[in-house]
Amino acid sequence: MSDYRDETKKTRDRYNRLALLYDLDDVLWLGSKQFSRKKLIKATNLSDSGLVLDLTTGTGRNAGLLAKWVKNGTVVGIDISRNVLKINSFRNKNHKNLHRVQGTVQLLPFGDETFDAVFCTCGMDTIDGPEIAFTEAFRAVKTGGTISLLHLKNDKGPLDVFNFLSRFYAWIWRAEGADLLPHVERHDVEMVMYKNLQIAEAIIVRKVSKPPADR
Ligand SMILES: C[S@@+](CC[C@H](N)C(=O)[O-])C[C@H]1O[C@@H](n2cnc3c(N)ncnc32)[C@H](O)[C@@H]1O
Repeated sequence: MSDYRDETKKTRDRYNRLALLYDLDDVLWLGSKQFSRKKLIKATNLSDSGLVLDLTTGTGRNAGLLAKWVKNGTVVGIDISRNVLKINSFRNKNHKNLHRVQGTVQLLPFGDETFDAVFCTCGMDTIDGPEIAFTEAFRAVKTGGTISLLHLKNDKGPLDVFNFLSRFYAWIWRAEGADLLPHVERHDVEMVMYKNLQIAEAIIVRKVSKPPADR
């Protein structure tokens, strides 16, 4: 991949053009994506208060679940595409504790140690430079906070029907896939959960120390 910034602009333009179609995708996955988002929140053991960041928040399916769960706290969703954020606002208009920011996750506009938890569902596979995005998430989460990820892998295992479907999906949504485990393990984290789901992976980690002072 050339420069991640050029690729990110292409991704933004794709999502701006196809924003209205994105939710059809959840239908095609027969509800399994929403089911998995709920499972990820449960497995994170998220409290009902605090400040939570939803990376690549998109049309807001995961952000809506988070806002409902964190009823005494605040959820911030960030996405690069203006048009998906409009759908997100409409979908989640009743969740007053959910705020949206347009921006890029490889350069988060938040200070160090800001959030109690960070989520990214179906997003790390779409980001150009997922490792950079993870390192940013690690910077922005508080020590003791969690980072929960769910995304398609780049290595999708044997060429069966799931593998084929996920490659088709990847082509439409620029979801190249991400094999993040080795990168995640290079950070000061404690593994809470790792699930290898053949074409996808779910990772939950807890940050155990602050980033070095000279970053
Ligand atoms: C497949 S959608 C996932 C949306 C949502 N998280 C979900 O669970 O349905 C991927 C989203 O990532 C966003 N995205 C891709 N690259 C990004 C980047 N570098 N910074 C912020 N958002 C990005 C796209 O605009 C799109 O809304």
